[in-house]
Amino acid sequence: MRDFSLDDLTDAVITEYGRTDDPRFREIMTSLIRHLHDFVREVKLTEGEWFEGIQFLTQTGQKCDDVRQEFILLSDVLGLSMVVDAVNHPAGRAATESTLLGPFYVEGSPQRDFGASIIQQSSGSSPIVFKGRVTDQEGNPISGATLDVWQNSGSGMYAVQDSAQPADNMRGKFTTRPDGTYAFVTEQPTSYAIPDDGPVGRLLRAGNRHSMRPAHVHFIVSAPEHEALTTHVFMAGDPYLDSDAVFATKDALVADVKDLDDAQTAEACGLDNPFPCIEFDFGLMRQ
Ligand code: BEZ
Ligand code: FE
Repeated sequence: MRDFSLDDLTDAVITEYGRTDDPRFREIMTSLIRHLHDFVREVKLTEGEWFEGIQFLTQTGQKCDDVRQEFILLSDVLGLSMVVDAVNHPAGRAATESTLLGPFYVEGSPQRDFGASIIQQSSGSSPIVFKGRVTDQEGNPISGATLDVWQNSGSGMYAVQDSAQPADNMRGKFTTRPDGTYAFVTEQPTSYAIPDDGPVGRLLRAGNRHSMRPAHVHFIVSAPEHEALTTHVFMAGDPYLDSDAVFATKDALVADVKDLDDAQTAEACGLDNPFPCIEFDFGLMRQ
């Protein structure tokens, strides 16, 4: 039996977890316990507030299922996902900037050919083309790189959220050609509300925050011997670029749709020339 003072308690808990043989686990637990205890001391958390927090986390877990990841959403609206992103992918490197993954990534998108469309169910807006190159940090083209692409439909929802859409609507995998180029057809994405019918929505409302994200297309770009890049391309002019609910916008990731005169790409994409296009190149870092 030991009689801990408030400060001794923190050291005692840290010492107990220090029994581990895993140095990284020890480092993480030491810091986590210190910050958690300091947080309670700093705000003088009441027992009622502690229990409200426990209930909030319980409801966050209860809201999760195979396709709803409320904990990732919580991490996103707290800015935590972007801190993890910044620590692991510092800005200023010779690579395209990264941003968060979000909760709507689904593995196993269908492989599609150069110039193919990811639209399986049109929402009525006219098609646009995405095209560009994947290069290494010296600007050399990467042949055989994979672009795993997903975006929402005109309804604002991703196929995984919406049983009215085919499962592979607005998603696909593309492989770069020997000159590093890729191209695909899509619709212009729309700004949308992140799911706000659960605990995370209540948190946003309590903070007097909206739940909107600026329109974007998601990419995971990967190639052998290179770091995989998780990022978005945002639509220039979107009204939510300065107030993204999940803090994930970066200036370098904003692109314009412009009319492009390029007969070869028009033919590969099955569109009349010229056509509306976003040109965006991705740079990867070698591992
Ligand atoms: C998304 O972009 O798909 C997303 C990111 C964070 C929270 C909700 C949605
Ligand atoms: Fe998204």
